[in-house]
Amino acid sequence: MFGVCYYPEHWPRSFWPRDAEAMAELGLQFVRIGEFAWSRLEPRRGEFDFEWLDDVVELLAAAGLRIVMCTPTATPPKWLIDRWPEVLPVDPLTGRTRGFGSRRHYDFSSEAYLSEALRISETVASRYGRHDAVVGWQTDNEFCCHDTALSASRDALRAFRRWCEERYRTVDALNEAWGNVFWSMEYRDFAEIEHPFGAVTETNPAHRLAYQRFSSAQVARFHQRMVEIIRKHAPGRFVTHNFIPMSETGVDNFELAAPLDFASYDNYPLGRSDLQFREAPEDVFRKYMRTGHPDLAAYYLDQTRCLSGTGFWVMEQQPGPVNWAPNNPRPAPGMVRLWTLEAFAHGADCVSYFRWRQAPFAQEQMHAGLLRPDSSRASGWPEVGQAIAEARTLDLRSHEKGKARVAIVTSPESFWVSSIERQSQSYAFNDVQFDYYRALRSLGLGVDFITMRADPGDYALVVAPSLPVLEESFVDACAKAGSLVVFGPRSGAKTPEFQLPPELPPGPLQRLLPVRVLSVETLRADCPERLLWNGREYRSTVWREELEAPGAEIIARSGPDAAAVVRHGRALYLGTLTCLDFLRDFFRSLCDELQIDTIDLPDDLRIERRGDLVFAFNYSATEQPLPLDDDARVLLGHRQVGPHDVTVWTR
Ligand code: GAL
Repeated sequence: MFGVCYYPEHWPRSFWPRDAEAMAELGLQFVRIGEFAWSRLEPRRGEFDFEWLDDVVELLAAAGLRIVMCTPTATPPKWLIDRWPEVLPVDPLTGRTRGFGSRRHYDFSSEAYLSEALRISETVASRYGRHDAVVGWQTDNEFCCHDTALSASRDALRAFRRWCEERYRTVDALNEAWGNVFWSMEYRDFAEIEHPFGAVTETNPAHRLAYQRFSSAQVARFHQRMVEIIRKHAPGRFVTHNFIPMSETGVDNFELAAPLDFASYDNYPLGRSDLQFREAPEDVFRKYMRTGHPDLAAYYLDQTRCLSGTGFWVMEQQPGPVNWAPNNPRPAPGMVRLWTLEAFAHGADCVSYFRWRQAPFAQEQMHAGLLRPDSSRASGWPEVGQAIAEARTLDLRSHEKGKARVAIVTSPESFWVSSIERQSQSYAFNDVQFDYYRALRSLGLGVDFITMRADPGDYALVVAPSLPVLEESFVDACAKAGSLVVFGPRSGAKTPEFQLPPELPPGPLQRLLPVRVLSVETLRADCPERLLWNGREYRSTVWREELEAPGAEIIARSGPDAAAVVRHGRALYLGTLTCLDFLRDFFRSLCDELQIDTIDLPDDLRIERRGDLVFAFNYSATEQPLPLDDDARVLLGHRQVGPHDVTVWTR
C-alpha cells in the first residue's frame, strides 16, 4: 500500500480537487493530513474552524482515498504559548527557555499542555473518529525530535521529585542508590532534589540515568493519554505514531509503541547517512552520498518492525533532496524506488511519501516533494509510479514477513547508560550496535531486534552488542532457551542504579558463563591492538577488558595469555570491541555451527526475505552477480542486478 503526506492548508482551495485526483491516479491509497494545522483549526482558543478540513476530507474520500488523521499537537499555536508560557521547554544544556517559532515547543511535564493537547485531540477525534474515510490516526509528530525529550523546566523538576519519591520511597534510599555520599551530594528531602544539569563538572551518572528514565516515562504518559482519547472517539481505527530512532531521541520507543496498533517510521536514508558518516573519510562517504549506506535504512526499518511486532508503515519516505542534514544531495536515479521496495522487503505494509508538493515558503522550502512547487512532477514521481506497479505484481500482502533466525537484543536503558558514561570518546552505543548489525547483514542474514522481555528461545542466534544493564530474568531465559547467545563487552557492567555490580562485571551474566572483568581500558579508535582467532589476526579496539575466566574455553586472545573471547556451553562473551572482519568471520562460524545458511555479500549488495520472496538491493553503481540457484524464479529485475536496482526471486 502507498500513501502521501499532504498539507492542504498550505495551498489554495482550488488545488485540492486536482491534488486528490492526481493522488488517486498515481495509485496512492492513503493521505495523511492535519499534522501541524492547529492554528488553522483553532485560530483563537475555543474558536474552531473545521469547515475547510471537512471539505478536504470529503474531497479526498470522493477520490477514493483513505485518510490518516493526525493530532496537531507537535505545534501549539501562539495564543496557547502566550496564555501558558510555562508550556515552553527549557534546554538542559543552556538553561534557556526554548522559544515559539518552530515546532515541538512543549514540555512533556506541563499539565497545562497535557490538558490542551488532549482537548484539541478530542475535538479532532470526535469530529472525524467515525468518518468512513478516516481509517487511521497518527499521534503528534516524531516525539522528541530536535532534542526535546529532556527539559530542565520547573514543571519537569516538580514531576521528577514526585517520580523519585515513588521510585525510592525514602530520601535515604535514593542517596544510597545513587551513592550521594560521594562529593557530599546527599539530599535531606525529596524537595531538595535538583536537575542533573548545569553543575560545575559532571553530575552523578545515577542521577542522570534517573532523569532519563523519568523523562522517557513522561513522554509515554503523554502519549498514552492521547491514544486513549483517540480510541474513545475512533473505534476500530488504527492508531500509530511516526517514530525516529531511539538513538536520536533517547526515549524508550518500545514503551511508546505499546498502546499503538503498529509503529511507523520516517525514512530519510540520505539525511541519516549524512549524519551517521559525517566523520567518515571522503572515499567512504562519497560512495553512499546519493544512495545512503546499504545497512542504515534497513537497520532502522528492522527496529521499527520489532517495536510492536505487528507490521509497520513508513509514514514519511524521502522522495528527493531534504533540507535538514549537513549536506543534502539528490538521490541517485532509482533510489526512491529502491528504498520503497526495501521497506516492503523489511516488512512494511505501506510506504507513504513526504510530501505531496514542495512548499515554496517557510522552513522546508528546500525539501523535495513528489511535485515541485509549480505542481510539475519532480524526479521521484516516476519512481513511485514504478514501485506501485511492481508492488502490485509481487502481491506483497500474500507474503508475510516471518521471524528472523537471528536477533539483536537492544535496550533503551543500556543506550542511556553508555551515553552517560562514555569512558571512551569512540564508544557510542548506536555505532557498536550498528557494527554488529552490519556484520550479520553482510552474511545475508535477516535480523530482528528484541528487548530483554522477549523470549530468546524464538531465535537460533541471539546477539547482545551492548547491554550494560542486564536483567537477571533475561539471563535465566537465555539459560533455558538453548539458543546460542553472544554478549558484547560491557555486558552486565552496571546495576540498574548505575553502580558496579558487587560480583564485578558482567554481573548477572556470571550465572551463564564463569567470567569476571578485572579491569577495563579504552583506546583511541586509531590505535587498535591485535586480536587472534582461528589462526588469523584481527583488531581489538576502543574498549578492552581484562578477563578472568577459569572454567571457560578461550576462543580468541588479545595476547599470549590474554583472553578476549570466551565460551561456556551455549554462551559466548567478547571482552573487546573489534573490527567488522572479525565480527563477520565469527558470526559465519557460529552460523555454520547452527546450520544457518550464510552468503558472503559484497559491501553494496544486500538481501532480505519476505515470506518466500527474496529481494536483492544493489547500492552500487555497477552491475552485480546474484547468488541464485538454477531453480530460482526471477519475478522482478534480472539475474545480474543492475546499478541501484532490485531483483526479486522465489523458488
Ligand atoms: C520529518 C518530519 C517532517 C518533515 C521532514 C523533513 O522528520 O516529520 O515534518 O520535517 O522530517 O524531512
